[in-house]
Amino acid sequence: MAQCCINPSILSADFVNLEAELRRISNADAVHVDVMDNHFVPNLTIGLPVVQRIQAVSPVPLDAHLMIADADRWAPGFADAGVASVTFHAEASIAPIKLARELRARGAKAGMALRPGTPVEPYLDMLPELDLLLIMTVEPGFGGQSFLDLTLPKIRRARAAIDGSGVNVALQVDGGITEETIVRAAEAGANVFVAGSAVYGAADPAEAIERLRAAANR
Ligand code: DX5
Ligand code: ZN
Repeated sequence: MAQCCINPSILSADFVNLEAELRRISNADAVHVDVMDNHFVPNLTIGLPVVQRIQAVSPVPLDAHLMIADADRWAPGFADAGVASVTFHAEASIAPIKLARELRARGAKAGMALRPGTPVEPYLDMLPELDLLLIMTVEPGFGGQSFLDLTLPKIRRARAAIDGSGVNVALQVDGGITEETIVRAAEAGANVFVAGSAVYGAADPAEAIERLRAAANR
């Protein structure tokens, strides 16, 4: 399977210097923007106005990860803002199929995320409605946590379902991705990798991206 993308998470960047921080990852495939509302997860980050400013200056497309309650109400606004890929949490949506269709209708790629404890099987029939499936490899809310190996079988089952149905859905993993864990996630079938601390914690983020890419392709 062709490997694809390294999407650094700006959660681990310096929030006072976002424009400069974005320039440091211009060799990335996209920038992962973590939106948290202090309800769906016990942490608060940025909202739509800041995302719009990131969008205006980013050298790479935006991959927004919405860790917010009432996704049905708030996610379409991110698509309207021109965010290339908008990912909502299945656990935060009442009508995920309707929402995915709305995101696509507004010109965004439709992504859906699952917490580590949420099974993928109930959602397999809606794969054709999605451009991206995000399997969280930590509990969402904070950067710098350890990769949960217990998610690997779910990644494998999702990969088998995607390949079996012939749909073009990216399989993203997010949380605890390092040069070591990316190898296991890639082997299990993931092809889009979010990395926060492994990129922005490195002396040279651009070089860290290349090392992760090489490890994923190994
Ligand atoms: C966690 C966020 C992640 C986070 C990953 O809830 O969704 O995107 O930034 O950070 P690391 O790579 O440090 O685990
Ligand atoms: Zn994320």
